[in-house]
Amino acid sequence: MLAWTTSPGSPGGLLLREVDEPVPLPDELVVRVEAVAPNPGDLAALTGAPPGAIPGWDGSGVVLQAAADGQGLSVGERVVFLGLAARGWAQRRAVPRAMTAAAPADASWEQLATLPVPATSALRAVRRFGSLLGRRLLIVGATSAVGRFAVQLAARSGAVVVAVARDQSQHAELHRLGAHETHTDLNSVSPGVYGAIDMIGGRHLVQTYALLDRGGTVIALGHAAGADEHFPFGAFVADPATYDRAITSFFLGSEPELAKEMTYLAADRELQFGELDVKAWTELAAWIAAGAPRPSGRTVFTVDHEEPVS
Ligand SMILES: NC(=O)c1ccc[n+]([C@@H]2O[C@H](COP(=O)([O-])OP(=O)(O)OC[C@H]3O[C@@H](n4cnc5c(N)ncnc54)[C@H](OP(=O)(O)O)[C@@H]3O)[C@@H](O)[C@H]2O)c1
Repeated sequence: MLAWTTSPGSPGGLLLREVDEPVPLPDELVVRVEAVAPNPGDLAALTGAPPGAIPGWDGSGVVLQAAADGQGLSVGERVVFLGLAARGWAQRRAVPRAMTAAAPADASWEQLATLPVPATSALRAVRRFGSLLGRRLLIVGATSAVGRFAVQLAARSGAVVVAVARDQSQHAELHRLGAHETHTDLNSVSPGVYGAIDMIGGRHLVQTYALLDRGGTVIALGHAAGADEHFPFGAFVADPATYDRAITSFFLGSEPELAKEMTYLAADRELQFGELDVKAWTELAAWIAAGAPRPSGRTVFTVDHEEPVS
């Protein structure tokens, strides 16, 4: 079969070449991969990956071989999957059944491939706050893949959603997804924030923390700005209005079983996937070599197969 493998010196650091078929562990399915959607995490993991490794976490496809332990999805079922151990940018892959979910027939392969890491991260982050009914939740970087899902899930949880996204042309869309307030930067956000999910980091994390009510928490989920955080003296000095505020880090893989969350999200007909930039997978390395441009929405690659679709 064909797979993209890490290859220092090749364009984008990747080479499409023949590799061995996947050999599944007893709790793994073998999937015929139809679409893959690179995450910032996938791209970051390319640096430092050993030569010859197959990168790639998120995708969608059809089960070719059920897990040998007899549990999970059956042959022929549509599946959406996440494999943090990578191996996804291939025509076929083995994936732990704990990282798979049955996919509905009416969602496209491309839409489904964009779901795993962003939507499950958003769900787990929103859940950490407990009841959000009537509480102000700030989402920083709301036009990111995680941010869009977080806006939708927080709004349906009853939160008063305050969305921050630097691209004002996306604010009407964020309102449509459920945001109650939108801002291009944090300077115009009023204090009194119960909780926050920050996808950007750097000065955004510093400013977000300062907007919290006492007892409030920022989940530092993402670090898209790639910038240091400098807190001014006094940021952690508590007074009656500001005590017990917290910043917490986040790792999607902290609980390895993702099947239940992905099944819920994949079956959700209300969830909006957003604009997709669909390309053939032969363009993957060139896209990475060009800096993984993100013109609008998420970039998804459809996988070619030598055999006809069954
Ligand atoms: N800890 C975990 O387990 C976990 C899980 C999932 C994701 N993440 C992290 O979460 C972050 C978001 O992931 P994603 O897939 O949602 O990313 P994404 O779809 O690629 O979106 C990145 C976002 O960052 C914004 N951005 C980039 N640089 C910025 C800057 N300097 N100032 C302001 N905004 C900036 C972009 O704004 P524009 O749209 O205006 O360009 C875009 O909205 C990434 O850092 C990712 O690695 C972490």
